[in-house]
Amino acid sequence: MDTALNYNYRVVKQFAVATVLWGVVGMLVGVILAAQLAWPAFNFDTAWLTYGRLRPLHTNAVIFAFGGSALFATSYYVVQRTCQVRLFSDALASFTFWGWQLVIVAAAITLPMGITSGKEYAELEWPIDILIALVWVSYAVVFFGTLWKRKTSHIYVANWFYGAFILTVAILHIVNSAAMPASLTKSYSAYTGVQDAMIQWWYGHNAVGFFLTAGFLGMMYYFIPKQAERPVFSYRLSIVHFWALIFTYMWAGPHHLHYTALPDWAQSLGMVFSLILLAPSWGGMINGIMTLSGAWHKLRDDPILKFLVVSLSFYGMSTFEGPMMSIKTVNALSHYTDWTVGHVHSGALGWVGLVSMGSIYYLLPRLSGKKEMWSKRLIEVHFWVATIGIVLYIASMWIAGVMQGLMWRAVNADGTLTYTFVESVKATFPYYVIRLSGGVLYLAGMLIMAYNTYKTVSGSKPADSRIPVLSGAHA
Ligand code: HEM
Ligand code: HEM
Repeated sequence: MDTALNYNYRVVKQFAVATVLWGVVGMLVGVILAAQLAWPAFNFDTAWLTYGRLRPLHTNAVIFAFGGSALFATSYYVVQRTCQVRLFSDALASFTFWGWQLVIVAAAITLPMGITSGKEYAELEWPIDILIALVWVSYAVVFFGTLWKRKTSHIYVANWFYGAFILTVAILHIVNSAAMPASLTKSYSAYTGVQDAMIQWWYGHNAVGFFLTAGFLGMMYYFIPKQAERPVFSYRLSIVHFWALIFTYMWAGPHHLHYTALPDWAQSLGMVFSLILLAPSWGGMINGIMTLSGAWHKLRDDPILKFLVVSLSFYGMSTFEGPMMSIKTVNALSHYTDWTVGHVHSGALGWVGLVSMGSIYYLLPRLSGKKEMWSKRLIEVHFWVATIGIVLYIASMWIAGVMQGLMWRAVNADGTLTYTFVESVKATFPYYVIRLSGGVLYLAGMLIMAYNTYKTVSGSKPADSRIPVLSGAHA
């Protein structure tokens, strides 16, 4: 029985539309940054347009506004559908939507003004941090409250991943943001020296593990089986995947602090756990991909499934690359170079971006009372434009990164450096231009999605129905 009328789809739809909107904004800022790295004049000599101010705006907008809204939307949908009950509290759910939008707007105003705590991915100052904590605790109450009043006896695995993401992010945020306010716009961390660095990267790496991974795995476990119309390949593997992943991620943070004042044993521990992390990550990826067993043919003409499955390939790629980069000798080459930026975006554009887009394409028509998105062809165009964009972005950054690492460490027979720093910057220029073109394509894909979203939500007549369908042998 479909109890759609009893579900709170309003808040899901609000977050779904917000995902698209913030995706456009965050990626546009990314494109401006990419242009500035090739041609610094793109800061127009204006303080609030400078690289140092726009960069945290980009990371906050894409991770917390775009990725965060996708996580809210999908988790609220999945928890209701799999527990067969309405959200625990409509009022609190609505508060999470408006509270989160307020956080985003506050970030968009304060970061370009140069107001920052200076901690990467946790730059927002203490009054905004308090608002984030309030929204997040409300989110936890809505999500776990819904699980608590569920009508099913079993808790579907996607909810385990969403639940772990919500709980862990609450703990990470509250611990890492502890600070002593000096004024309304300035505070100082409660931790000092190497402890501050360790807490920051315990936060930073688990932000990757829980914000950018666990929640999106929740999406993967719900939307891939739904779109492929197949059960999860191995439910047993999904449970092993869950416990192994959340246990291992917690210990890997020190790989961000190789060759620093952090004790050497802690760096090695971080490296070992990062290497172990390959196993649960790939277990999950294989479980997702194998869910298509018997349904591979659907990939031919289902663009939403293409988004979902290709996202998993990028997940596999970035979780192979990450453990390699955590090996100290490899990190000695990769750290400080654009290789890291390439790794980040294979995870961010390839995994987080594509899985979110696929899931939101699945949701939007269902939330708007339509059978399909306004145009299926535009979803297909979006998929290809985005995929080509990702390849240009990450391939150029890999080459640039390895080149930079090798140039910086090259020495002459007499021990002097072979290259000056500026020579490496000059050599990187063409790769920055290629990265920019990849970014422009990825943003173009997002704009296509925004248009398709507008047409779907505003109730326009489906575009594809006006085009004759030639379905070959089956016609
Ligand atoms: C098995 C999984 C992974 C491991 C072991 C891993 C490992 C690493 C390593 C070693 C670095 C470089 C640290 C440095 O030299 O400073 C790094 C950076 C990074 N990774 Fe991963 N990675 C993994 C998966 C992912 C995924 C899936 C994403 C994104 C969705 C991601 C996002 C990032 C980010 C954002 C940074 C840059 C952090 C910064 O310095 O600002 N990683 N990762
Ligand atoms: C049109 C798409 C995008 C473009 C053109 C773009 C461009 C950029 C640029 C130029 C940087 C600065 C790199 C540097 O400092 O050298 C950056 C950093 C970053 N971006 Fe993006 N980006 C895009 C989309 C995304 C998305 C969708 C995400 C996450 C879901 C993301 C996450 C990040 C992160 C975490 C960093 C910091 C990396 C680090 O510190 O190593 N980006 N991006």
